Amino acid sequence: MSIKFAQTKHQVIDLIKHRWSARSFAEKAISERDMQTILEAGSWAASANNSQPWRYAYAHKGTEGFETLLSTLAPGNQPWAKNAAVLVAGIGIKELPDTQQKNAYYLHDIGMANSFILLQASSMDIYSHVMAGFSKQQISEKLSLPENEEPVCIIALGYLADAEKLEEPYKSREMAPRSRKPLAEFTTLLD
Ligand SMILES: Cc1cc2nc3c(=O)[nH]c(=O)nc-3n(C[C@H](O)[C@H](O)[C@H](O)COP(=O)(O)O)c2cc1C
Repeated sequence: MSIKFAQTKHQVIDLIKHRWSARSFAEKAISERDMQTILEAGSWAASANNSQPWRYAYAHKGTEGFETLLSTLAPGNQPWAKNAAVLVAGIGIKELPDTQQKNAYYLHDIGMANSFILLQASSMDIYSHVMAGFSKQQISEKLSLPENEEPVCIIALGYLADAEKLEEPYKSREMAPRSRKPLAEFTTLLD
């Protein structure tokens, strides 16, 4: 198995270190009960005014819904995402409820919820991979989304399989080491 735990300089918690974006998924279903747990975790993310401007449409492998979500993915994502146990479309709600006022933070907030979903899944040994490589237009049409709802990402979830199962170039990507900018590059300590 390709295990790519983060090598951190400081004592970052294991839950964060253990999450990484996998592409090789086992032929093992995720129970609906576990999906409810994972999605509930998302609901506990912080959001501006507690507006919770997100919605998730998801489908288990082997269903029509799964094929619908899969068909909207970019050609570079479909070859491996087809093996996911569940595909989840993350949908952002652009307007504040009952006001028709733009919510400036909807993208920020769905990102927060996504993080919670990924970490909850990781804690259950379920691997994840967020994708922006999909057709927003196709998702909007296929799910009949109203004007104020924007498909933001599709998340693949599944149990991990051996990287050997993948074809190139995905196998090499699955085994590639992970890297991050050094702290000094993105932080400033103010006086
Ligand atoms: C918003 C977003 C969009 C992404 N889109 C794709 C994608 O379309 N295809 C893909 O293979 N990975 C995609 N990724 C995964 C990133 O490439 C990955 O998170 C990044 O390289 C860091 O690796 P790690 O998640 O393993 O730490 C996306 C991630 C995010 C957060």
